[in-house]
Amino acid sequence: MRTEILSTGMYVPSRVVTNDDLAQMMETSDEWIVQRTGIHERRWVEVPGTGASELGVQAARAALERAEMKPEDLDAIIFATLSPDHFFPGSGVLVAAKLGLKETPALDVRNQCSGFLYSLQVADGWIRAGIYRRVMIIGAEVHSAGLDKTTRGRDVACIFGDGAAAVIVGPTEDDSRGIRSIKLGADGRHAGDLWIEGLGSAFPVIADEEQLKQLKQWPAMEGSKVFKFAIVRMPAITRAVLEAEGVKVEELKLLIPHQANQRISDAVQRSLGLRDDQVFNNIAKYGNTTAASIPLALHEALEQGRLARGDWLAFAAFGSGFTWGAALVRW
Ligand code: UT7
Repeated sequence: MRTEILSTGMYVPSRVVTNDDLAQMMETSDEWIVQRTGIHERRWVEVPGTGASELGVQAARAALERAEMKPEDLDAIIFATLSPDHFFPGSGVLVAAKLGLKETPALDVRNQCSGFLYSLQVADGWIRAGIYRRVMIIGAEVHSAGLDKTTRGRDVACIFGDGAAAVIVGPTEDDSRGIRSIKLGADGRHAGDLWIEGLGSAFPVIADEEQLKQLKQWPAMEGSKVFKFAIVRMPAITRAVLEAEGVKVEELKLLIPHQANQRISDAVQRSLGLRDDQVFNNIAKYGNTTAASIPLALHEALEQGRLARGDWLAFAAFGSGFTWGAALVRW
């Protein structure tokens, strides 16, 4: 038995924030952002205080509708995010409650840009072990609530955007199809290269002006270091999942890389020797939506008819942790 992707759904807030809009808030320009990241615009929630579960539940409803399923048909929910609604509990239980579910198990995954692939491996394990038959994976982020929107934070603020996407996975008896290989990695020695240091148990609650001045409540990123690791790890682990199943790079119909930076996707493409038509990117419209980025791109790729039954599809991700991963799917 294997796991197949049965349905997808997405939701992005209607508020479009262009690079020119950012230039009103900080010293930056459309030219700089487009050249260094390929991003033209991103979405931010219309109403500050809208949590990731609110975006997530809209994507979940869209995936359920497409699958002609009811929330009660789900056996479990996995919610991947780095921007949960609250410190605890996780946003998965909030989505379940919003869907009207009162007993369905809900797990939160905190693996940032690799969160979707970590979730997919957990769901694949549950399904292949016969524990659950219908698992909803949601990736959702509200970055706009946690960005330093001044010149000080421009390296991070120009990249990240809000959005959500969901997939429903279930078993298939057809052994040739579905998820064929998933590989994951992590190297916590680089935790401090992309993180929010404050607001955790290892950092005292921000209670006074002095602590606020330390700025540990904002994301901090060693951008060029993340970049350099990403363009090595992503192609390597993609090759590993292809090799695990004896699939050649030329046979790949589509690679959906985590939408971190267009230049990262381009470097991964070059490193693997893929043609333009073999790689799907939508970062120009949404920026980097972290845990939502791969399912969001998958949803749009399907809408555009980029995948047919039997096609080889790969996902690859890299991000905070550092964590990374790749998956190979036969559609
Ligand atoms: O999902 C994983 C999440 N993170 C990533 O994928 C990030 C990967 N890294 C990147 O995408 C890039 O490193 C950035 C886009 C963040 C930065 O691009 P870069 O080409 O690596 O620039 P840099 O960090 O080397 O900075 C070059 C200059 C600096 O100014 P000085 O020190 O040379 O005067 C920055 O302060 O660009 C400046 N800069 C900006 N200028 C205008 C940084 N951000 C901006 C900005 N607008 N938004």
